[in-house]
Amino acid sequence: MAGLFITFEGTEGCGKSTHIKKLAARLETEGHTVHTLREPGGTESGEPIRELLKHGPKNLCAETELLLMNASRAQLVREVIRPALAAGEIVLCDRFYDSSIVYQGVGRGLDPKQVQRVIDFAVGDTLPELTLLLQIPLETSEERRARRADTDRFEQSDRAFFERVEQGYQDLAAAHPVRIHAINADLSIEAVETEIWKIVSNTLNNRE
Ligand code: TMP
Repeated sequence: MAGLFITFEGTEGCGKSTHIKKLAARLETEGHTVHTLREPGGTESGEPIRELLKHGPKNLCAETELLLMNASRAQLVREVIRPALAAGEIVLCDRFYDSSIVYQGVGRGLDPKQVQRVIDFAVGDTLPELTLLLQIPLETSEERRARRADTDRFEQSDRAFFERVEQGYQDLAAAHPVRIHAINADLSIEAVETEIWKIVSNTLNNRE
């Protein structure tokens, strides 16, 4: 059977990395081979791009951001994601192209058609089957960002940027109700974990 490609999305501090680890462990216990990836980065060429995007010059323009995100993505798709899916494995990716639609498109204000064209070039036909959108209130995200010692270029953005990002995710979820599952992540870790497992196991069962 073809592999399963699942992406995680959400604003800063929504708990993606915690839940990806938990889901990977559970899937592995059930006998699946799981690749846990993150964007930008995840390959030898992608990691320096990640560093530039997160900690590079403040004046990096939105167009450059979009191209660098998708340069990293193009490499990740060809080097890791496609071979893993072809081998029937499960890929869990911390962010994928929805982040470019929301952060560079809605957040930075780039033309959505141009953003989509760049994404299409980078990913081709490698599309996630399931996207888990972890939603937390803006205030919670702000508190968690404020507690971080070493904030990156994105985390230093103003409130209006994050309001646009949040709205962007809501609109995207409404536009793709089958693929994108919005999850209330402002609950206990156990409750969110249970909800995620319900959705993922349902997807796996429907494929059998
Ligand atoms: P994170 O891995 O700590 O979430 O940092 C990645 C940052 O990059 C996060 O602020 C979201 C941003 N980002 C974009 O702006 N566009 C993208 O396409 C991706 C993948 C991430």
